[in-house]
Amino acid sequence: MDNLIVVDHPLIQHKLTILRDIETGPKEFRELTKEITLLLTYEATRHIKTHSVEISTPICRTEGKMIEDKKVTVVPILRAGLGMMEGVLSLMPNASVGFIGIYRDPETIQPVEYYAKLPGINDNEIFVLDPMLATGVSSAAAIEYVKKAGGKHITLMCLIASPEGASFISSKFPDIKIFTASLDEKLNDHAYIVPGLGDAGDRLYRTK
Ligand code: URA
Repeated sequence: MDNLIVVDHPLIQHKLTILRDIETGPKEFRELTKEITLLLTYEATRHIKTHSVEISTPICRTEGKMIEDKKVTVVPILRAGLGMMEGVLSLMPNASVGFIGIYRDPETIQPVEYYAKLPGINDNEIFVLDPMLATGVSSAAAIEYVKKAGGKHITLMCLIASPEGASFISSKFPDIKIFTASLDEKLNDHAYIVPGLGDAGDRLYRTK
């Protein structure tokens, strides 16, 4: 899987271990989700374009480089993707945000999109956020939606990926890079990632 990047760093490993722990409560879970996402964003944005600007330091005129974060769009998949949004926005505060709500129909097992609102995306760099890349079905539906809306430069960011989900996305969208903090062992019979961290949405918002 050439397009899967596991961002392996001691800080990420440390934070992810606390995140996985069943004893970690929602406040810390949200803080860690934000921090890990911020660290992933550092790697996932290496390719974005910079432009030169002239500035004055207290010593002299000089040229520096800047990114155009207005040309970045963040697309969290509701609801757990919301937990990652602040991590990206803390580094690129002028990015626009689009939302896609998807659930899996328990009868058909097909993804159902129940809400979508995207800003104009033109040639923007788009970061789709899905903390748990499990089967990959929701991420794939969100990526399809963004592509249909004209998105061309799409990156998927997640906290934990399963081998099944990563290979599904990777073969369906060979042009899309996936950044994750961990590639876990497998999916269980209920499509939860093992060892994983449980249900990310429930842990973010204490709904169980
Ligand atoms: N969604 C989650 O929140 N956790 C999983 O393990 C799989 C999907």
